[in-house]
Amino acid sequence: MSICHNKKTTLGGSRAMKLAAFVSGLALVACALALENGLMRTPPMGWLAWERFRCNIDCKTDPDNCISEKLFVDMVDRLADDGWKELGYVYVNIDDCWMAKKRDAAGQLIADPERFPHGIKALADYAHSRGLKLGIYGDLGTYTCGGYPGTTLDRIKQDAQTFAEWGVDMLKLDGCYSSEEVQAQGYPKMAMALNATGRPIAYSCSWPAYRGGLPPKVNYTLLANICNLWRNYGDIQDSWNSILSIVDWFSANQDVLQPVSGPGHWNDPDMLIIGNFGLSYEQSRSQMALWTMLAAPLFMSTDLRTLSRSSREILQNRLMIKINQDPLGIQGRRVLQEKARIEVFLRPLSHSASALVFFSRRTDMPYRYTTSLSKLNFSASAVYEAQDVYSGGIISGLKAEENFTVIVNPSGVVMWYLYPTMYLEQPWNLVRQHPQEKGFNPFDL
Ligand code: GLA
Repeated sequence: MSICHNKKTTLGGSRAMKLAAFVSGLALVACALALENGLMRTPPMGWLAWERFRCNIDCKTDPDNCISEKLFVDMVDRLADDGWKELGYVYVNIDDCWMAKKRDAAGQLIADPERFPHGIKALADYAHSRGLKLGIYGDLGTYTCGGYPGTTLDRIKQDAQTFAEWGVDMLKLDGCYSSEEVQAQGYPKMAMALNATGRPIAYSCSWPAYRGGLPPKVNYTLLANICNLWRNYGDIQDSWNSILSIVDWFSANQDVLQPVSGPGHWNDPDMLIIGNFGLSYEQSRSQMALWTMLAAPLFMSTDLRTLSRSSREILQNRLMIKINQDPLGIQGRRVLQEKARIEVFLRPLSHSASALVFFSRRTDMPYRYTTSLSKLNFSASAVYEAQDVYSGGIISGLKAEENFTVIVNPSGVVMWYLYPTMYLEQPWNLVRQHPQEKGFNPFDL
């Protein structure tokens, strides 16, 4: 990846200035192309082994659930056959513990020969033949977190080349067993090495999670130039507490995190655990809604072979996915925390639409939350319509000043896709009426 310098021209006169503007416009285009690999213009979607299947390598006693080519072939088949692929869930991603304990004689990483008898290339070929993509895992350090061979600085080029030769489409590069200095050198170096292979390989960096996730230790401008997504925070576990701690951390730090995400470079709050053991129905709907508000990658880590119908419905909700995949790629924010333990999240979307989530942290009973769009900073110059993302119900004729009530279940959400249906004034007035200081404005695009 090259760094672009926007040199100033010194031509005089208006024609010359136009030319200069045009030329610097071209330079900007060239710069953007040089800094990005063009991948993941919307948050990536797919499946990732880790949270559900961990480092289970016991294929003798647990052949269906161990980290082996069978598991990935099964998931490729499920994604291809059960309607996931068409919705955008196209990555099948291997995580830790796929490797043999040692590199081969040429120093190349190899898959465990017993658990992956046909090797990773065959798996990638199979995923591609079914219209899917294959992701792999490596670790910038002496070992992976699970104790398998790491990618030290001197191995970066070789490993990037190996992944490209196998036809891999994405790399998650973890950061166990490495120092701050090695990470500062290694993450950009791997970006360059992946680019140099000529194969488009999306790049997920765990770097910020190892440095506390916040500036000044983390440079998000640099990350956005070299990585397509990055883990900011600790590992998700199969529990509601884990979800809450992630939501709390992302919300508490949203002033830093919200602006750094966008097309081609996303914050990653970690996998979806819907379909596993730790979440109730309401909590599963909440994770899906909150991850969507964060413009988060949607990597399911669950057993797609045994998924319940209700979990499938949550994960395959079309309007939810449309919102997650909105082309503007603007991350949402928590805009209100009520004393009643209701929180409101807002995400601006294309075509002047917005997504709203009313989230209950209560533990008593369904709560009747009354508010109005003007309390949420929407302009009074339009009439709105909302579609409830889970029930599909339409609420029309919403005026900003008028109160409405949503009923939010304990640890659950109500989620709306909201759009203006009629402007009472010219749309440009909407923008002018809301100076930045008034808060996060859905029309301020
Ligand atoms: C780290 C990562 C996890 C997973 C494990 C594998 O903890 O953050 O997502 O990849 O390593 O060992």
